[in-house]
Amino acid sequence: MKTTISQLKNHIDETVTIGAWLSNKRSSGKIAFLQLRDGTGFVQGVVVKAEVAEDIWTTAKGLTQETSLYVTGKVQQDDRSQTGVELVVTDVKVISESVDYPITPKEHGTEFLMDHRHLWLRSKRQHAIMKVRNEIIHAMYEFFHKNEFIKVDPPILTGSSAEGTTTLFHTKYFDEDAYLSQSGQLYMEAAAMALGKVFSFGPTFRAEKSKTRRHLIEFWMIEPEMAFVEHEESLEIQEQFVSHVVQSVLERCKLELTVLGRDLSKLENVKAPFPRISYDDAITLLKEKGFDDIEWGEDFGAPHETAIAESYDKPVFITNYPKEIKAFYMKPHPERDDVVLCADLIAPEGYGEIIGGSQRIDDLELMKARYEEHGLTDDAYKWYLELRQYGSVPHSGFGLGLERTVAWITGAEHVRETIPFPRLLNRLYP
Ligand code: 4AD
Ligand code: MG
Repeated sequence: MKTTISQLKNHIDETVTIGAWLSNKRSSGKIAFLQLRDGTGFVQGVVVKAEVAEDIWTTAKGLTQETSLYVTGKVQQDDRSQTGVELVVTDVKVISESVDYPITPKEHGTEFLMDHRHLWLRSKRQHAIMKVRNEIIHAMYEFFHKNEFIKVDPPILTGSSAEGTTTLFHTKYFDEDAYLSQSGQLYMEAAAMALGKVFSFGPTFRAEKSKTRRHLIEFWMIEPEMAFVEHEESLEIQEQFVSHVVQSVLERCKLELTVLGRDLSKLENVKAPFPRISYDDAITLLKEKGFDDIEWGEDFGAPHETAIAESYDKPVFITNYPKEIKAFYMKPHPERDDVVLCADLIAPEGYGEIIGGSQRIDDLELMKARYEEHGLTDDAYKWYLELRQYGSVPHSGFGLGLERTVAWITGAEHVRETIPFPRLLNRLYP
Protein backbone atom coordinates (compact mmCIF):
# COMPACT_ATOMS: atom_id res chain seq x y z
CA MET A 1 0.00 0.00 0.00
CA LYS A 2 1.32 3.45 -0.97
CA THR A 3 1.35 6.12 1.72
CA THR A 4 3.33 9.13 3.01
CA ILE A 5 5.73 9.58 5.90
CA SER A 6 3.23 11.70 7.85
CA GLN A 7 0.71 8.82 7.71
CA LEU A 8 3.09 6.04 8.83
CA LYS A 9 1.93 6.30 12.45
CA ASN A 10 -1.49 5.09 11.29
CA HIS A 11 0.04 1.94 9.76
CA ILE A 12 1.98 0.38 12.65
CA ASP A 13 2.98 -3.24 11.85
CA GLU A 14 1.74 -2.92 8.27
CA THR A 15 3.87 -3.18 5.15
CA VAL A 16 3.72 0.02 3.10
CA THR A 17 5.49 1.78 0.23
CA ILE A 18 6.58 5.42 0.21
CA GLY A 19 8.08 7.63 -2.46
CA ALA A 20 11.05 9.43 -0.89
CA TRP A 21 14.47 10.98 -1.27
CA LEU A 22 17.54 9.87 0.62
CA SER A 23 18.61 12.80 2.76
CA ASN A 24 21.42 10.99 4.58
CA LYS A 25 22.77 7.50 5.19
CA ARG A 26 24.89 5.61 7.70
CA SER A 27 25.88 2.02 7.18
CA SER A 28 28.09 -0.74 8.51
CA GLY A 29 28.74 -4.19 7.10
CA LYS A 30 25.46 -5.51 8.46
CA ILE A 31 22.98 -2.66 8.72
CA ALA A 32 22.17 0.56 6.86
CA PHE A 33 20.21 3.51 8.24
CA LEU A 34 18.50 5.52 5.51
CA GLN A 35 17.27 8.99 6.42
CA LEU A 36 14.24 9.41 4.16
CA ARG A 37 12.14 12.47 3.39
CA ASP A 38 9.07 12.94 1.22
CA GLY A 39 7.93 16.50 1.96
CA THR A 40 5.40 15.40 4.56
CA GLY A 41 8.17 14.50 7.00
CA PHE A 42 11.34 12.61 7.75
CA VAL A 43 11.71 8.98 8.80
CA GLN A 44 14.52 6.48 9.29
CA GLY A 45 14.54 3.34 7.17
CA VAL A 46 16.54 0.40 8.53
CA VAL A 47 17.97 -2.18 6.13
CA VAL A 48 19.32 -5.35 7.77
CA LYS A 49 21.64 -7.30 5.47
CA ALA A 50 20.64 -10.68 6.86
CA GLU A 51 16.96 -10.00 6.26
CA VAL A 52 16.83 -8.73 2.68
CA ALA A 53 17.75 -10.18 -0.69
CA GLU A 54 21.37 -9.57 -1.67
CA ASP A 55 20.57 -7.14 -4.52
CA ILE A 56 18.47 -4.99 -2.20
CA TRP A 57 21.32 -4.81 0.31
CA THR A 58 23.73 -3.84 -2.49
CA THR A 59 21.36 -1.12 -3.73
CA ALA A 60 20.76 0.25 -0.23
CA LYS A 61 24.44 0.35 0.62
CA GLY A 62 25.32 2.19 -2.58
CA LEU A 63 22.63 4.88 -2.35
CA THR A 64 23.78 8.49 -2.68
CA GLN A 65 22.31 11.62 -1.17
CA GLU A 66 19.07 12.88 -2.80
CA THR A 67 18.52 9.75 -4.90
CA SER A 68 14.77 9.32 -5.36
CA LEU A 69 13.29 6.01 -4.31
CA TYR A 70 10.30 3.83 -3.71
CA VAL A 71 10.90 2.22 -0.35
CA THR A 72 8.81 -0.67 0.96
CA GLY A 73 8.94 -1.78 4.55
CA LYS A 74 7.16 -2.64 7.75
CA VAL A 75 6.21 0.26 10.00
CA GLN A 76 7.50 -0.15 13.52
CA GLN A 77 6.73 1.99 16.50
CA ASP A 78 9.87 3.74 17.75
CA ASP A 79 9.51 6.17 20.62
CA ARG A 80 13.07 7.48 20.20
CA SER A 81 12.32 8.96 16.78
CA GLN A 82 10.68 12.38 16.31
CA THR A 83 7.97 10.89 14.12
CA GLY A 84 7.40 7.97 16.51
CA VAL A 85 8.04 5.33 13.85
CA GLU A 86 10.75 3.59 11.89
CA LEU A 87 10.53 1.68 8.62
CA VAL A 88 12.06 -1.79 8.54
CA VAL A 89 12.94 -1.92 4.85
CA THR A 90 12.14 -4.94 2.71
CA ASP A 91 12.55 -3.43 -0.74
CA VAL A 92 14.22 -0.38 -2.34
CA LYS A 93 13.68 0.75 -5.93
CA VAL A 94 15.71 3.61 -7.34
CA ILE A 95 13.62 6.09 -9.35
CA SER A 96 16.43 8.44 -10.29
CA GLU A 97 20.02 8.72 -9.16
CA SER A 98 21.63 11.81 -7.65
CA VAL A 99 25.38 12.19 -8.11
CA ASP A 100 27.58 14.68 -6.23
CA TYR A 101 24.74 16.54 -4.54
CA PRO A 102 26.26 19.92 -3.64
CA ILE A 103 24.74 20.41 -0.19
CA THR A 104 26.38 17.82 2.03
CA PRO A 105 25.68 17.37 5.74
CA LYS A 106 28.74 19.52 6.54
CA GLU A 107 28.52 23.30 7.13
CA HIS A 108 28.20 25.60 4.11
CA GLY A 109 28.53 29.38 3.83
CA THR A 110 25.42 31.53 3.45
CA GLU A 111 26.19 32.71 -0.12
CA PHE A 112 26.75 29.12 -1.24
CA LEU A 113 23.45 28.06 0.28
CA MET A 114 21.65 31.05 -1.27
CA ASP A 115 23.09 30.18 -4.69
CA HIS A 116 21.64 26.70 -4.20
CA ARG A 117 18.34 27.82 -2.69
CA HIS A 118 16.44 25.51 -5.07
CA LEU A 119 18.18 22.56 -3.38
CA TRP A 120 18.67 24.07 0.09
CA LEU A 121 14.87 24.04 0.45
CA ARG A 122 15.11 20.25 0.83
CA SER A 123 16.96 20.47 4.15
CA LYS A 124 15.28 19.61 7.41
CA ARG A 125 15.59 23.17 8.71
CA GLN A 126 14.17 24.81 5.58
CA HIS A 127 11.41 22.20 5.48
CA ALA A 128 10.46 23.13 9.06
CA ILE A 129 10.44 26.86 8.27
CA MET A 130 8.25 26.36 5.18
CA LYS A 131 5.82 24.22 7.18
CA VAL A 132 5.51 26.95 9.80
CA ARG A 133 5.05 29.56 7.06
CA ASN A 134 2.26 27.43 5.63
CA GLU A 135 0.59 27.09 9.03
CA ILE A 136 0.80 30.86 9.62
CA ILE A 137 -0.99 31.46 6.30
CA HIS A 138 -3.57 28.81 7.15
CA ALA A 139 -4.21 30.29 10.61
CA MET A 140 -4.53 33.78 9.13
CA TYR A 141 -7.20 32.68 6.64
CA GLU A 142 -8.91 30.75 9.43
CA PHE A 143 -9.06 33.84 11.68
CA PHE A 144 -10.45 36.10 8.98
CA HIS A 145 -12.90 33.51 7.75
CA LYS A 146 -14.20 32.95 11.30
CA ASN A 147 -14.61 36.69 11.76
CA GLU A 148 -16.52 37.14 8.49
CA PHE A 149 -13.86 38.99 6.52
CA ILE A 150 -14.08 38.59 2.76
CA LYS A 151 -10.90 37.96 0.80
CA VAL A 152 -10.34 40.51 -1.94
CA ASP A 153 -7.43 40.51 -4.37
CA PRO A 154 -6.05 43.97 -5.16
CA PRO A 155 -4.03 44.51 -8.37
CA ILE A 156 -0.26 44.04 -8.51
CA LEU A 157 0.23 46.49 -11.38
CA THR A 158 -0.83 49.92 -10.23
CA GLY A 159 -0.75 53.50 -11.44
CA SER A 160 -0.14 54.98 -8.00
CA SER A 161 1.97 54.61 -4.88
CA ALA A 162 0.57 53.82 -1.43
CA GLU A 163 3.70 54.09 0.69
CA GLY A 164 5.77 56.92 -0.77
CA THR A 165 7.44 57.26 -4.13
CA THR A 166 11.03 56.47 -3.16
CA THR A 167 10.68 52.66 -3.14
CA LEU A 168 8.59 52.18 -6.28
CA PHE A 169 9.39 49.56 -8.90
CA HIS A 170 8.71 51.14 -12.23
CA THR A 171 7.63 49.36 -15.39
CA LYS A 172 6.00 50.33 -18.68
CA TYR A 173 2.30 49.53 -19.10
CA PHE A 174 2.11 49.87 -22.87
CA ASP A 175 2.33 53.66 -23.25
CA GLU A 176 1.67 54.44 -19.60
CA ASP A 177 3.84 54.22 -16.51
CA ALA A 178 3.02 51.55 -13.95
CA TYR A 179 4.44 50.36 -10.65
CA LEU A 180 4.49 47.06 -8.81
CA SER A 181 2.24 47.30 -5.77
CA GLN A 182 3.86 48.43 -2.50
CA SER A 183 0.63 47.74 -0.63
CA GLY A 184 -2.93 46.89 -1.65
CA GLN A 185 -4.32 49.21 0.99
CA LEU A 186 -5.87 51.93 -1.16
CA TYR A 187 -7.78 49.32 -3.15
CA MET A 188 -8.72 47.50 0.04
CA GLU A 189 -10.31 50.72 1.31
CA ALA A 190 -12.53 50.73 -1.78
CA ALA A 191 -13.29 47.05 -1.15
CA ALA A 192 -14.21 47.74 2.51
CA MET A 193 -16.75 50.30 1.34
CA ALA A 194 -18.29 47.58 -0.82
CA LEU A 195 -17.93 44.51 1.42
CA GLY A 196 -17.45 45.77 5.00
CA LYS A 197 -14.60 43.69 6.41
CA VAL A 198 -12.06 42.50 3.86
CA PHE A 199 -8.53 41.16 3.71
CA SER A 200 -5.96 40.61 1.04
CA PHE A 201 -2.88 38.41 0.88
CA GLY A 202 -0.36 38.88 -1.84
CA PRO A 203 3.12 39.85 -2.91
CA THR A 204 4.21 43.47 -2.44
CA PHE A 205 7.34 45.17 -3.71
CA ARG A 206 9.69 47.78 -2.31
CA ALA A 207 12.76 48.91 -4.20
CA GLU A 208 14.49 49.43 -0.88
CA LYS A 209 18.24 49.81 -0.88
CA SER A 210 18.34 48.32 2.62
CA LYS A 211 20.54 45.34 3.27
CA THR A 212 19.26 44.26 6.68
CA ARG A 213 18.02 41.00 8.15
CA ARG A 214 14.44 42.38 8.00
CA HIS A 215 14.17 43.71 4.46
CA LEU A 216 13.11 41.91 1.32
CA ILE A 217 12.49 43.50 -2.07
CA GLU A 218 9.48 41.24 -2.64
CA PHE A 219 7.50 40.22 0.43
CA TRP A 220 4.02 38.95 1.20
CA MET A 221 1.60 41.06 3.12
CA ILE A 222 -1.79 40.38 4.67
CA GLU A 223 -3.91 43.52 4.62
CA PRO A 224 -7.24 43.67 6.43
CA GLU A 225 -9.44 46.76 6.02
CA MET A 226 -12.56 47.33 8.11
CA ALA A 227 -15.48 49.73 7.66
CA PHE A 228 -16.98 51.22 10.86
CA VAL A 229 -13.89 50.21 12.87
CA GLU A 230 -11.93 52.92 14.69
CA HIS A 231 -8.33 52.88 15.84
CA GLU A 232 -8.73 51.24 19.27
CA GLU A 233 -10.99 48.49 17.98
CA SER A 234 -8.50 47.80 15.19
CA LEU A 235 -5.74 47.27 17.78
CA GLU A 236 -7.96 44.75 19.58
CA ILE A 237 -8.50 42.84 16.33
CA GLN A 238 -4.76 42.90 15.63
CA GLU A 239 -3.84 41.42 19.01
CA GLN A 240 -6.51 38.73 18.69
CA PHE A 241 -5.26 37.95 15.21
CA VAL A 242 -1.58 37.67 16.14
CA SER A 243 -2.40 35.59 19.24
CA HIS A 244 -4.46 33.20 17.13
CA VAL A 245 -1.64 32.79 14.61
CA VAL A 246 1.03 32.12 17.25
CA GLN A 247 -1.13 29.74 19.29
CA SER A 248 -2.13 27.81 16.14
CA VAL A 249 1.51 27.33 15.16
CA LEU A 250 2.32 26.15 18.68
CA GLU A 251 -0.50 23.65 18.51
CA ARG A 252 0.07 22.34 14.99
CA CYS A 253 3.81 22.74 14.38
CA LYS A 254 5.42 21.60 17.61
CA LEU A 255 7.70 19.17 15.80
CA GLU A 256 8.91 21.86 13.38
CA LEU A 257 9.52 24.38 16.19
CA THR A 258 11.50 21.69 18.02
CA VAL A 259 13.59 20.94 14.92
CA LEU A 260 14.30 24.69 14.75
CA GLY A 261 15.32 24.80 18.40
CA ARG A 262 12.73 27.50 19.13
CA ASP A 263 12.18 28.49 22.77
CA LEU A 264 8.48 27.59 23.06
CA SER A 265 7.94 29.39 26.38
CA LYS A 266 8.50 32.73 24.65
CA LEU A 267 5.70 31.94 22.18
CA GLU A 268 3.31 30.43 24.73
CA ASN A 269 3.16 33.83 26.37
CA VAL A 270 1.90 35.55 23.21
CA LYS A 271 -1.75 36.02 24.12
CA ALA A 272 -3.95 39.13 23.88
CA PRO A 273 -4.01 41.79 25.24
CA PHE A 274 -0.68 43.27 24.15
CA PRO A 275 0.87 46.31 25.83
CA ARG A 276 0.62 49.74 24.18
CA ILE A 277 3.08 52.59 24.47
CA SER A 278 2.64 55.98 22.83
CA TYR A 279 5.34 57.36 20.56
CA ASP A 280 5.85 60.19 23.12
CA ASP A 281 6.45 57.71 25.94
CA ALA A 282 8.64 55.57 23.70
CA ILE A 283 10.92 58.60 23.18
CA THR A 284 11.14 59.06 26.96
CA LEU A 285 11.83 55.34 27.44
CA LEU A 286 14.60 55.40 24.81
CA LYS A 287 16.26 58.40 26.48
CA GLU A 288 16.15 56.53 29.81
CA LYS A 289 17.79 53.58 28.06
CA GLY A 290 20.68 55.75 26.92
CA PHE A 291 19.63 56.75 23.40
CA ASP A 292 20.58 60.38 24.03
CA ASP A 293 20.42 61.62 20.46
CA ILE A 294 16.89 60.51 19.52
CA GLU A 295 14.58 63.54 19.22
CA TRP A 296 10.79 63.79 19.09
CA GLY A 297 9.77 63.68 15.43
CA GLU A 298 12.39 61.16 14.29
CA ASP A 299 11.49 57.68 13.07
CA PHE A 300 12.71 54.64 14.98
CA GLY A 301 15.41 52.40 13.56
CA ALA A 302 15.96 48.71 14.34
CA PRO A 303 18.04 49.39 17.51
CA HIS A 304 15.29 51.64 18.90
CA GLU A 305 12.57 49.08 18.18
CA THR A 306 14.63 46.34 19.79
CA ALA A 307 15.26 48.45 22.90
CA ILE A 308 11.55 49.24 23.27
CA ALA A 309 10.55 45.60 22.72
CA GLU A 310 13.00 44.48 25.43
CA SER A 311 10.82 46.14 28.04
CA TYR A 312 7.98 43.69 27.31
CA ASP A 313 7.54 39.92 27.03
CA LYS A 314 4.84 40.19 24.36
CA PRO A 315 4.56 42.12 21.11
CA VAL A 316 4.04 45.83 21.86
CA PHE A 317 2.05 48.49 20.00
CA ILE A 318 3.76 51.85 19.55
CA THR A 319 0.88 54.25 18.94
CA ASN A 320 0.33 57.79 17.69
CA TYR A 321 3.46 58.61 15.71
CA PRO A 322 4.16 62.15 14.48
CA LYS A 323 2.22 62.76 11.28
CA GLU A 324 5.37 63.99 9.45
CA ILE A 325 6.93 60.51 9.48
CA LYS A 326 3.78 58.57 8.54
CA ALA A 327 1.71 58.08 5.37
CA PHE A 328 -0.63 60.75 3.97
CA TYR A 329 -3.83 58.75 4.58
CA MET A 330 -3.60 58.45 8.38
CA LYS A 331 -6.27 60.18 10.45
CA PRO A 332 -5.07 62.91 12.80
CA HIS A 333 -5.49 62.40 16.55
CA PRO A 334 -8.76 64.12 17.61
CA GLU A 335 -7.02 66.14 20.32
CA ARG A 336 -3.66 66.79 18.69
CA ASP A 337 -2.73 67.83 15.21
CA ASP A 338 0.88 66.67 15.41
CA VAL A 339 0.26 62.91 15.77
CA VAL A 340 -1.91 60.38 13.91
CA LEU A 341 -4.13 57.45 14.90
CA CYS A 342 -1.74 54.70 13.99
CA ALA A 343 0.26 51.88 15.53
CA ASP A 344 3.20 49.70 14.65
CA LEU A 345 3.29 46.29 16.31
CA ILE A 346 6.82 45.41 17.39
CA ALA A 347 7.64 41.72 17.85
CA PRO A 348 9.68 40.60 20.87
CA GLU A 349 13.30 39.37 20.76
CA GLY A 350 14.52 41.99 18.29
CA TYR A 351 12.39 40.96 15.28
CA GLY A 352 11.12 44.51 14.82
CA GLU A 353 7.95 45.86 13.24
CA ILE A 354 5.61 43.14 11.99
CA ILE A 355 2.46 45.26 11.56
CA GLY A 356 1.86 48.82 10.41
CA GLY A 357 -1.70 50.08 10.67
CA SER A 358 -3.92 53.11 11.18
CA GLN A 359 -7.34 54.66 11.10
CA ARG A 360 -7.76 56.33 7.72
CA ILE A 361 -8.83 59.88 6.97
CA ASP A 362 -12.54 59.73 6.09
CA ASP A 363 -13.17 63.46 5.62
CA LEU A 364 -13.12 64.63 2.01
CA GLU A 365 -11.81 68.14 2.68
CA LEU A 366 -9.04 66.93 4.98
CA MET A 367 -8.00 64.29 2.44
CA LYS A 368 -7.90 66.95 -0.28
CA ALA A 369 -5.67 69.10 1.95
CA ARG A 370 -3.31 66.13 2.49
CA TYR A 371 -3.22 65.57 -1.27
CA GLU A 372 -1.99 69.13 -1.78
CA GLU A 373 0.64 68.83 0.95
CA HIS A 374 1.95 65.61 -0.61
CA GLY A 375 1.66 66.80 -4.21
CA LEU A 376 -0.78 64.01 -5.13
CA THR A 377 -2.74 65.97 -7.69
CA ASP A 378 -2.34 63.17 -10.19
CA ASP A 379 -5.42 61.64 -11.81
CA ALA A 380 -4.21 58.26 -10.53
CA TYR A 381 -5.61 59.10 -7.09
CA LYS A 382 -8.94 60.60 -8.13
CA TRP A 383 -10.84 57.42 -7.37
CA TYR A 384 -9.40 57.29 -3.85
CA LEU A 385 -10.85 60.75 -3.11
CA GLU A 386 -14.24 59.64 -4.40
CA LEU A 387 -14.37 57.02 -1.62
CA ARG A 388 -14.73 60.02 0.74
CA GLN A 389 -17.37 61.59 -1.42
CA TYR A 390 -20.04 58.90 -1.51
CA GLY A 391 -21.04 57.78 1.97
CA SER A 392 -17.68 57.97 3.72
CA VAL A 393 -17.38 56.07 7.03
CA PRO A 394 -14.73 55.71 9.74
CA HIS A 395 -12.46 52.82 8.80
CA SER A 396 -9.16 51.28 9.80
CA GLY A 397 -6.78 48.66 8.53
CA PHE A 398 -3.34 47.24 8.85
CA GLY A 399 -0.67 45.26 7.05
CA LEU A 400 1.25 42.34 8.51
CA GLY A 401 4.52 41.39 6.85
CA LEU A 402 4.51 37.60 6.50
CA GLU A 403 8.26 37.03 6.32
CA ARG A 404 9.07 39.06 9.44
CA THR A 405 6.33 37.15 11.25
CA VAL A 406 7.76 33.82 10.07
CA ALA A 407 11.23 34.94 11.20
CA TRP A 408 9.96 35.81 14.66
CA ILE A 409 7.89 32.65 15.15
CA THR A 410 10.57 30.27 13.82
CA GLY A 411 13.45 32.17 15.43
CA ALA A 412 15.18 32.56 12.02
CA GLU A 413 17.83 35.21 12.20
CA HIS A 414 17.30 36.60 8.69
CA VAL A 415 14.20 36.93 6.49
CA ARG A 416 16.05 35.25 3.59
CA GLU A 417 15.18 31.86 5.12
CA THR A 418 11.47 32.64 5.53
CA ILE A 419 10.41 32.79 1.85
CA PRO A 420 11.09 30.04 -0.72
CA PHE A 421 12.97 32.24 -3.17
CA PRO A 422 14.03 35.50 -1.52
CA ARG A 423 14.42 38.65 -3.59
CA LEU A 424 17.15 40.67 -1.93
CA LEU A 425 19.33 43.58 -2.87
CA ASN A 426 21.76 41.98 -5.40
CA ARG A 427 19.92 38.67 -5.56
CA LEU A 428 17.56 37.56 -8.32
CA TYR A 429 18.99 34.03 -8.64
CA PRO A 430 17.68 31.37 -8.38
O1 4AD B 1 4.34 49.56 7.52
P1 4AD B 1 4.05 49.26 6.10
O2 4AD B 1 4.83 49.97 5.07
O3 4AD B 1 2.49 49.53 5.94
C1 4AD B 1 1.78 49.49 4.79
O4 4AD B 1 2.19 49.14 3.72
C2 4AD B 1 0.31 49.79 4.99
N1 4AD B 1 -0.23 50.27 3.71
C3 4AD B 1 -0.39 48.54 5.44
C4 4AD B 1 -1.86 48.75 5.68
O5 4AD B 1 -2.22 49.50 6.56
N2 4AD B 1 -2.68 48.08 4.90
O6 4AD B 1 4.22 47.71 5.85
C5 4AD B 1 3.48 46.77 6.60
C6 4AD B 1 4.36 45.64 7.07
C7 4AD B 1 5.51 46.06 7.99
O7 4AD B 1 5.07 46.16 9.33
C8 4AD B 1 6.48 44.90 7.82
O8 4AD B 1 6.10 43.80 8.60
C9 4AD B 1 6.28 44.54 6.36
O9 4AD B 1 5.02 45.04 5.97
N3 4AD B 1 7.33 45.12 5.51
C10 4AD B 1 8.38 44.43 5.02
N4 4AD B 1 8.74 43.14 5.16
C11 4AD B 1 9.87 42.73 4.53
N5 4AD B 1 10.62 43.53 3.76
C12 4AD B 1 10.30 44.83 3.57
N6 4AD B 1 11.03 45.60 2.77
C13 4AD B 1 9.12 45.33 4.23
N7 4AD B 1 8.50 46.54 4.26
C14 4AD B 1 7.41 46.39 5.04
MG1 MG C 1 5.68 50.55 8.72
